[in-house]
Amino acid sequence: MPSLFLLDFYFPARLRRTPAPRSSRPNTAKRKKVWIEMIIGLPKEIKNNEFRVGLTPSAARAFIRAGHTVLVEPGAGLGAGFEDLEYVDAGAQLEKQTEQLWAKSNLIVKVKEPMPSEYPFFHKGLILYTYLHLAVSPSLTQALLHSGVNAVAYETISDQAGDLPCLTPMSEIAGRMAVQEGAKYLEKTYQGRGVLLSGVPGVERGRVTILGGGSVGTNACRLAIGMGAHVTVLDINSRRLAYLDSIFPRQITTLYATRDNIQHALAQADLVIGAALLPGRSTPKLVEREDLALMKPGAVIVDVSVDQGGCAETSHPTTHDDPIFYVDGIVHYCVSNMPGAVARTATQALVNATLPYGLKLADRGLENACLSDPGLMTGLNCYAGQCTCPGVAEALRLEYAAPETLLA
Ligand SMILES: NC(=O)c1ccc[n+]([C@@H]2O[C@H](COP(=O)([O-])OP(=O)(O)OC[C@H]3O[C@@H](n4cnc5c(N)ncnc54)[C@H](O)[C@@H]3O)[C@@H](O)[C@H]2O)c1
Repeated sequence: MPSLFLLDFYFPARLRRTPAPRSSRPNTAKRKKVWIEMIIGLPKEIKNNEFRVGLTPSAARAFIRAGHTVLVEPGAGLGAGFEDLEYVDAGAQLEKQTEQLWAKSNLIVKVKEPMPSEYPFFHKGLILYTYLHLAVSPSLTQALLHSGVNAVAYETISDQAGDLPCLTPMSEIAGRMAVQEGAKYLEKTYQGRGVLLSGVPGVERGRVTILGGGSVGTNACRLAIGMGAHVTVLDINSRRLAYLDSIFPRQITTLYATRDNIQHALAQADLVIGAALLPGRSTPKLVEREDLALMKPGAVIVDVSVDQGGCAETSHPTTHDDPIFYVDGIVHYCVSNMPGAVARTATQALVNATLPYGLKLADRGLENACLSDPGLMTGLNCYAGQCTCPGVAEALRLEYAAPETLLA
């Protein structure tokens, strides 16, 4: 047992919690002794057609085994096929009152950014661990800063290789879905071009242009090649283009993303997939309004990057309920939570990536977890009322406070 001095050194007083009374703890899982006992809240997602959930029952069990308490909103996992009973069997407790669940929790684990109706639940010192995309959400950013929530965004956590480990699994899913959704909206029923991406013997294949060759782009490539389409990928990262060329030899065309190359590729395309990202920042606008006139009538833009603002100037976020709109005869599909539609696969893939960081936050407390892991530190977007993500600060013209300095 550490001395009180050591406890104070490692964990400031505000991070230490009074343990929940023994009688209120479920005893189905074996608990470890921990220095900090956190209450982890798992609310039901309320974004349109969002069926994912922040923790699977087995992830809830991992938190409980680490000595924490997990509160689950009834029905939170149903959309992903996880019954309340599975969480209870894992040792979690059900909390029917959403407001109470947020109020009692030190750490809220979610999937999508909170909706405005959830802003009143924010409270000082709460750790919010979820996708946030703050660069395009001034109102959410203000709500987080004013309430003093410490917000860790999945999409800006980085690893030693500089990759985005908590974004990648969803990008893999969205990239694959982008081709399947694009193929559907190319159908005449949706005022698409009426082109079958694979073509048929004696008839040309469809053409797919992918803007950005990262995780979304690579997975879109994989599916589009599988369907038999002509595929062109544009990126500003030459190493990435070389990598794609090596894994898909003679199956794709890679082009450096100059304005001329983009316009030329747009003019050829039946399906355009927006997949560019500057981490934490708003998406560069690669398809300008006037470029739509270069495109073939009925061509489709699936702008996966719409969650950060979108590659096309004409994009705005849509929902699974009402996924498409038309501008100048071009079909735009801009659903900002595409993986929500394949909730079971997506929840499992997401939790595989987020659980290790979530456990670190719970076991060590936010400050020590971030100080011990620079990649997790890059996930910290808001801390004690300050904006700690350079991309968000730049996009929203806020003052940036370096998290290393604040936390130390
Ligand atoms: N809509 C959804 O449901 C959904 C799901 C998952 C991911 N996304 C979003 O998709 C986007 C892409 O994610 P990712 O994981 O593939 O990112 P990534 O970082 O793996 O790849 C982004 C690529 O864009 C390239 N890029 C940057 N600027 C460019 C430019 N000017 N021109 C061309 N390429 C450029 C980068 O070099 C990089 O290769 C992100 O905005 C992400 O949030 C959306």
